[in-house]
Amino acid sequence: MNKKIFAQLLGYSQNDLDKVTRPYILETFGVEVARCDTLEQYVEAIDVACLHKYFSKYWENDIKKWKYSGLALIDEVNSLRPRAVLDVGCGYNEFKGKINNLIGIDPYNDKADHEVGTLEYRTDQKFDVIMCLGSINFGSRDKILSEIGRCVDLLEDGGTMFFRVNPGVQHNKPEAKWIEFFAWNVPFIIELSEMFNLKVLDIRDDSNQRKYFIYRKVK
Ligand SMILES: C[S@@+](CC[C@H](N)C(=O)[O-])C[C@H]1O[C@@H](n2cnc3c(N)ncnc32)[C@H](O)[C@@H]1O
Repeated sequence: MNKKIFAQLLGYSQNDLDKVTRPYILETFGVEVARCDTLEQYVEAIDVACLHKYFSKYWENDIKKWKYSGLALIDEVNSLRPRAVLDVGCGYNEFKGKINNLIGIDPYNDKADHEVGTLEYRTDQKFDVIMCLGSINFGSRDKILSEIGRCVDLLEDGGTMFFRVNPGVQHNKPEAKWIEFFAWNVPFIIELSEMFNLKVLDIRDDSNQRKYFIYRKVK
């Protein structure tokens, strides 16, 4: 659950749902959502609406700014001769046509091959490379664990996952105000590797305070 949105809604409404009106939501969060039956449902609906608004209309990318997790990945991934690559949260799908056999998924960007979230993506295919570049970074620890687990399920045994993660740095634009950036750190990267039986192949400081790391799924 998005804790920033929850705290705002609870503080304002004191659990009186009649106070959570459409004008209040629009004025406070800048989005519109359908009527909900519980505060938790409102938090979820507002969170999704804020992510959708920001990533479909306001977020901009410059793939050239990343030292390791931008253009450098093209040769790095192609050198693995992948049969199938999944770009999770692909944004503008900038690796399409540059990395071989790549499918980009993203729930909020119409440049994706499939406009769908990590947990909602349905396929029988397995991937030998999965890239999660700044996209498994929103919401609670539980949400992050579910999304990583889903990616591990989609990865072939022996397959490789490339990550760029944000240590919790808020994006500057006002439209990102209510997005909860999960604060990734090195101990958590290692904890996940133990939890999901992954080998950590590399961890580096990327540009802009981000961490770049690579996991391999142990056979
Ligand atoms: C910081 S951007 C990074 C985009 C791209 N990977 C890149 O490196 O340029 C984060 C992306 O994650 C996407 N995203 C947000 N929630 C997601 C989810 N549940 N599943 C998949 N992608 C998601 C956003 O729509 C956005 O395109």
